[in-house]
Amino acid sequence: MAIPQHTIDQILDRIDLIDLIGQRVKLKKTGRTYSGCCPFHQEKSPSFHVYRDKQYYHCFGCQANGNAIRFLMEYENRTFPDVVKELASLASIELPKDQFDAKKPTYKKKAVPQEPSTPRSLDPKNNSSETSHFQADPDPFEFVEPDSSEIFIPFEEPEGNLYDLLENIAQYYEQQLTQHPHAQQYFQQRGLTTQTIQNWRLGYAPEGWQHLEQAFPRDIDGIKQIGLIRTSDTGRDFDLLRDRVIFPIRDHKGRVVGFGGRALNNDIKPKYINSPDSEVFHKNQLLYGLYEGSKNKANDWLMVEGYMDVIALSQANIHGAVATLGTASNTDHLNLLFRRNHRITIAFDGDSAGQKAARRTLEIALPLLNDGRELKFFILPPEHDPDSLIRREGVEKFKALWEASPLLSDFLYVLLSQSYDISTPEGKSQVMGELRNLTNLLPEKGSYRYLLTQSFREKLGLGRRFTPKVNNDAALSFNIQTRVEDYAIALLISHPFLYQQFTILQEHIPEEELLADVLNILDKLFPKLPEDQDASLYYVLGAMTQYHYVILDLLERTNIFSLIDSPEKAFNLAKEYVLTLQGIYLRKKMKKPQSLKESQHLRKQLNELTKQISLQLLQS
Ligand code: UTP
Ligand code: MN
Repeated sequence: MAIPQHTIDQILDRIDLIDLIGQRVKLKKTGRTYSGCCPFHQEKSPSFHVYRDKQYYHCFGCQANGNAIRFLMEYENRTFPDVVKELASLASIELPKDQFDAKKPTYKKKAVPQEPSTPRSLDPKNNSSETSHFQADPDPFEFVEPDSSEIFIPFEEPEGNLYDLLENIAQYYEQQLTQHPHAQQYFQQRGLTTQTIQNWRLGYAPEGWQHLEQAFPRDIDGIKQIGLIRTSDTGRDFDLLRDRVIFPIRDHKGRVVGFGGRALNNDIKPKYINSPDSEVFHKNQLLYGLYEGSKNKANDWLMVEGYMDVIALSQANIHGAVATLGTASNTDHLNLLFRRNHRITIAFDGDSAGQKAARRTLEIALPLLNDGRELKFFILPPEHDPDSLIRREGVEKFKALWEASPLLSDFLYVLLSQSYDISTPEGKSQVMGELRNLTNLLPEKGSYRYLLTQSFREKLGLGRRFTPKVNNDAALSFNIQTRVEDYAIALLISHPFLYQQFTILQEHIPEEELLADVLNILDKLFPKLPEDQDASLYYVLGAMTQYHYVILDLLERTNIFSLIDSPEKAFNLAKEYVLTLQGIYLRKKMKKPQSLKESQHLRKQLNELTKQISLQLLQS
């Protein structure tokens, strides 16, 4: 396989697996995953699941599984190159010209003088030194070998591997640190322990203009390829990083692929110099600290700005911090994190530049927010970055501030409501107008757009005309009188766009349940549901007049409106109710299976459900 792995990763990242499979197999949204009848074996009830975040499908019936490439290869019986070519063009990614013979990350090593001990030839006839003692006088026409230390080996230059070279250079910088006390002192001043320095493999690039050339005389071509040796206008080669402390950058496999170098003194500009992109170093698809965080089993991810922030947090045992490599964060960066957790946080400076960055990030993040993904905004106090904040406030306070940071919906509200005078109707409508511009960036006309709009209207006092009487004594958790079904119905009536999350229940729900009826009605209504929240609520209530009183009672008893303080919360409640109800219904059915086969199938589904529930617990 000669297409570089990072290109394949990039293709898989950009392809929406739900779209791709959905065009070939009928899929239904079931909570955060999609499911349908497996195309790889015969079945009547769906055990084929597609996970968008993980870009992965799995059939619990026949164990077929894989990514977009594997799916097309097996479903359409095609070859790997064929499939990759098509997917690359779908993802608008250019493959290397001769994509199936792409260059290995190699460079030409310089030939060196042959060492005296190296046998030059194994053919004794050519080896004059072995035959010379048979001859009294050397034949004047015979080839006389020159002193072996002077000759160059005529064989082809050997190839070096860029990864090996980068590793050797990292070791060289590490070793230089041990020999330069002033560099060690710099790290000490910044509070780093010896252990931290070792964990992050920090180093030092000495002052000399040609120190790499001297240390690696055979590898100049390679060093130029990775951008650590530059050529001046006058044609002289010099090292990019001089008298700087070094942060080696590792890819997701832990291989060193690049370096950042920081000046030891704040007067020196630029403060940081990073090695440029190369064949093995792609800043847009890499996050500093991702490998190290994964290795330490991080689960809560926090995007920060600088290397030192990542390292300071890790020293305080917060392992999920990552930073971009001196570039702005992009979609690929966010997706790298969203693949690891559906909830991620981004830290921003409290100053106006930080606010701008937050706004920009918000815009690139919105199109990624589907399937209950959550983005939190950790706005730092003015003049602070995570490194200085944790130093001043301590770990516990830092964690508390992080924990308390607002979700996108709340952050957005603060951002927009500060920009207009929301005490006036005009201001309110401007806020709603801005919100609409932003929600147009959302991936689909779906629940999140609706929920966000609804929560803004409530906050701005444009609230619903329909206000059920709220019973303040109502329990906030399930109790004997109010069943999960009741909460589910109340949630669905108040937020009908969440219907999609509930469709998975239709397979197992006993038909005598009111919830079954509600779902059937929503099923018919859903395609026509008006996007305006008041209109949609009346639409739903209108279609359920026969249950009017029951529903009003449910809305009051469950106190559903006060349970939901953010769109993200509504999503999570839906998820929680769906998982709980699935469990209840599956267990009920298992008590009276129709056949052995059905019983096996139910058991399988129950296992899958248990897995999903534990995953959910892990992530919440
Ligand atoms: P900051 O300037 O915010 O500095 O750069 P910092 O992280 O607080 O650095 P310290 O604490 O003074 O050491 C944040 C990040 O932006 C990139 C680097 O990746 C840095 O970690 N950067 C910054 C550059 O690439 N070049 C620069 O000149 C400055
Ligand atoms: Mn800093």
